[in-house]
Amino acid sequence: MTFAPKSILVTGGAGFIGSNFIHSFISNNPYCNVTNLDSLTYAGNLKNLTALESNPCYRFVKGDIGDAPLVAGLLLEQKIDAVVHFAAESHVDRSITGPEIFVRTNVLGTQILLDESRKQWQSGTVGDFRFLQISTDEVYGSLGETGYFTEETPLAANSPYSASKAGADLLVRAYHETFGMPTLNTRCSNNYGPYHFPEKLIPLLIHNIINKKPLPVYGDGLNVRDWLHVRDHAVAIEVVLKRAAPGSVYNIGGNNEWKNIDIVNLVCDLLDSRLGRSTGENRRLITFVRDRPGHDRRYAIDASRLKRDLGWVPSYTFEQGIAETIDWYLANQEWVAEVTSGSYREYYEQQYGRGAA
Ligand code: NAD
Ligand code: DAU
Repeated sequence: MTFAPKSILVTGGAGFIGSNFIHSFISNNPYCNVTNLDSLTYAGNLKNLTALESNPCYRFVKGDIGDAPLVAGLLLEQKIDAVVHFAAESHVDRSITGPEIFVRTNVLGTQILLDESRKQWQSGTVGDFRFLQISTDEVYGSLGETGYFTEETPLAANSPYSASKAGADLLVRAYHETFGMPTLNTRCSNNYGPYHFPEKLIPLLIHNIINKKPLPVYGDGLNVRDWLHVRDHAVAIEVVLKRAAPGSVYNIGGNNEWKNIDIVNLVCDLLDSRLGRSTGENRRLITFVRDRPGHDRRYAIDASRLKRDLGWVPSYTFEQGIAETIDWYLANQEWVAEVTSGSYREYYEQQYGRGAA
């Protein structure tokens, strides 16, 4: 049985994954209305969505997911029959220096959104309804050298960020168990691709290499992440939204594990040739720095349930995806310049030391 939404509310659609999802979803569903609710924190950027400004099916609303009357009004006016919830504080390092906003947005914001969505669903005015929580593999904690996170792995979050996402996931579960609300929950591994804010590893590396700035590698650089192209994530979300059974949880991942230092070396080498630098020149920028407190050692997702039940598999090879991503950043230096001015410089100095920006 397929669920065919007519009017969806996307929260956090001006961020990295949300904006990629909106582009992908609108191109696959040209007659579905999409309302994007985003408060435009430092991570939200309407430039990610300029191509959609004149699309009659797309509407942007600046606002907070924690503003219950605003959310209630939007659900009612736009006859929303599905909520795809991306809005969050998403950077682990920021959650270590300032956890409070993570709890406010990721936990309390999600609860308010869930509650208004429950009322919309229970009113019966739009018929079939879905609430899809976009979550992360980080809720499972950290792996040793072997093994994978499955959907049955107990939640064992280690950072304030992942703890807040785990709290939200449990609220989503509770709304399904207690009220029978048709919720869905996806947990994805690390994404990369266009519109990725350069506080995160891959875009930060590209930006710093272009500007010949040090490349900060935390600890011994041997932590492992499992990388997935953001457009593959966007397609997986659409598949889950339309075809997953209410109440279900799906892991999403690309089976693509990399040690951080290997990613750093790869990005350096790919940019040597593109920037006309000699072989190995960019690697000289690598600087090992103090480790992230509580740094999870390894993430690796078992996404076999998604493949088995719904037939989703990633379409990008990492080789293709990382090359395209680097080329996107080189071609969109104006976008990068804009998001790295102002408050980014203050953040960078605080995170990496005075004079680093
Ligand atoms: P992001 O930081 O790039 O974007 C977050 C967006 O949410 C921004 O546009 C911001 O303005 C908006 N926002 C923040 N607080 C808000 C509020 N109170 N009300 C309305 N809007 C608000 O994040 P991202 O990397 O695109 O991640 C999106 C979601 O996917 C998050 O829930 C994150 O936990 C999850 N996720 C991210 C990754 C990843 O690799 N980036 C992987 C798995 C899951
Ligand atoms: O796994 C999914 C998660 O991936 C998402 O839930 C988060 O929202 C997203 O930010 C991401 O979290 P990570 O902490 O894994 O991503 P980040 O890009 O911050 O770091 C990737 C790895 O690189 C991690 O092991 C820390 C390391 N790192 C990061 C930065 C920013 C460095 O060595 N140096 C750096 O400067």
